[in-house]
Amino acid sequence: MPLNRWPQLCENPAYRNSPVKRAVVLFLAALLLLHAELTFAASRSPVRGKRGMVVSADEYATQVGVSILAKGGNAVDAAVAVGFALAVTHPSAGNIGGGGFMLVRPAKTGETMAIDYREKAPRRATRDMYLDKQGNVVPELSTVGYKAAGVPGTVAGLALALEKYGTMKLSELIQPSINLAEKGIVVRHTLARSLRQSAALLSRFPDSHSLFLRQGRYFEEGNLLVQKDLARTLRTIAQSGPSAFYDGPIAELIVADMERHGGLVTREDLKTYQPRLRPAIKGLYRGYEICSMPPPSSGGIALLEMLNILEPYPLANYGHNSSRTLHLMAEAMRLAFRDRAEFLGDSDFVKVPVAGLIAKKYAAQLRLGIDPYLAAESRKMAPGRPTAYESAETTHYSIVDAAGNAVANTYTLNGSYGGGATVHQAGFLLNNEMDDFSSKPGNPNMFGLVQGEANAIAPNKRPLSAMTPTIVTKENRLFLVTGSPGGPTIINTVLQVLINVIDFKRTLQEAVDAPRIHHQWLPDRLSLERGGFPIDVVDALKGRGHTIEWVDAMGDAHSIMIEAETAVRLGAADPRRNGLALGY
Ligand code: DON
Repeated sequence: MPLNRWPQLCENPAYRNSPVKRAVVLFLAALLLLHAELTFAASRSPVRGKRGMVVSADEYATQVGVSILAKGGNAVDAAVAVGFALAVTHPSAGNIGGGGFMLVRPAKTGETMAIDYREKAPRRATRDMYLDKQGNVVPELSTVGYKAAGVPGTVAGLALALEKYGTMKLSELIQPSINLAEKGIVVRHTLARSLRQSAALLSRFPDSHSLFLRQGRYFEEGNLLVQKDLARTLRTIAQSGPSAFYDGPIAELIVADMERHGGLVTREDLKTYQPRLRPAIKGLYRGYEICSMPPPSSGGIALLEMLNILEPYPLANYGHNSSRTLHLMAEAMRLAFRDRAEFLGDSDFVKVPVAGLIAKKYAAQLRLGIDPYLAAESRKMAPGRPTAYESAETTHYSIVDAAGNAVANTYTLNGSYGGGATVHQAGFLLNNEMDDFSSKPGNPNMFGLVQGEANAIAPNKRPLSAMTPTIVTKENRLFLVTGSPGGPTIINTVLQVLINVIDFKRTLQEAVDAPRIHHQWLPDRLSLERGGFPIDVVDALKGRGHTIEWVDAMGDAHSIMIEAETAVRLGAADPRRNGLALGY
């Protein structure tokens, strides 16, 4: 049929109900389906590894991890080596001057444990230490420089992980990082850009200015970043163990810097710092066992609370990232973040109703309050004062070894390059994790998070976190390892990766790549990744009463999944930054 006769044929009343029309419609539908298949097939596939897999934010660190696995080290050995490597190669978040959380699932026992190496408030910290005489928060006091730093936990945490679950010597695992610091790493575009973006902060501290900004000459892509002081610090830890950091020459350097610049961390603080081994938070979602981080992170509790709220909804029928699905997810996020502000803090200091918050019954009560068509108003749920949140850094990596041991590790300096201060002659950055406390309950922190009394500052207390390293099993078999940076968006990123895989049957790479949303109760707005959502979906969300905010990339969820039929490890690096998945 000549194409120019097509409109006339369609207009012809004899055609409307004819078998020809039916055939044409069927043909077009088949074409559409085929196109969908093709589009689907054209999306990126995860990286495959028969034995092991490492996915981290940085190519050097991933390679270090794989080399440890290939040498016969287990997932925890590799995780320790990657943790030290990122401290060299990814200085905005990788660290030895910060803290974090590691989830370990030994294949033998199948019992997932959490290592809490979160920073602690120094003993001299006080509830109102960031307020002026009028009771107002003093700008920058909790975010910049020495006073913003909590007692670092990373070195002790990695050492504890190794002692409990590893097989190799600490010195062997640190050696690759010493080499990287000493010989230098090639600065990639992302690092050059990130250093420039943080120049205003880093240039306030002479050691950071000379190390990371070359006294204002800035690193260009392709330059070599050599870190001699850090190499010496790492060598000292390799030779003498974590006590060098907490009760030895490195502790001396930290304390000397604190004394010179009005920081609060003392010898005593360092000497008494202890990471904690905690049972993981556990729950079920559509038959999958979810294990995640307990307090002092809010991640595990909030994640399970949201999954529980969403479970009865047939999200798969509602459609991936349809306005109906997104609305329900946003309402679940709003509720979980409201509870986070109200109830969560360091459970060594405040009573956290963990079981209550992750009970299916409680979720059922909360669901009753969700209007399927309209957004709730956060401010009517509880008062708050919103501000914008800034971008910052944390980093997550996932590792699975040949035996099936799994590690999900998220650690951080809090803000990008922490408080900006490099410890003199020790070559590492200090965190600004104290800002994760509520400096003034009810007042937003740098992420715009409004938090309550449960997270007020107290000596030796750990600030509440959103970090959500997560391990999922199905019928006791390892299924998925994930986690992310992104401050409060972390919890929602993990939620969406899980739902994309479990409800929407996306491949791991598609689940990680898919555009994300975020709601954190206050400020009362729904953040959408720029460019990720069709305009009619956005309009529909606005129609349901959501205030939309466009944001750049949220999260960086480096994840691993086990292919059910083959047990091949599938690795997915998040495309939002510059990560790498490598299997072997
Ligand atoms: O523990 C927390 O929740 C924050 N300190 C994490 C900060 C963060 O993820 C910034 N990253 N992009």
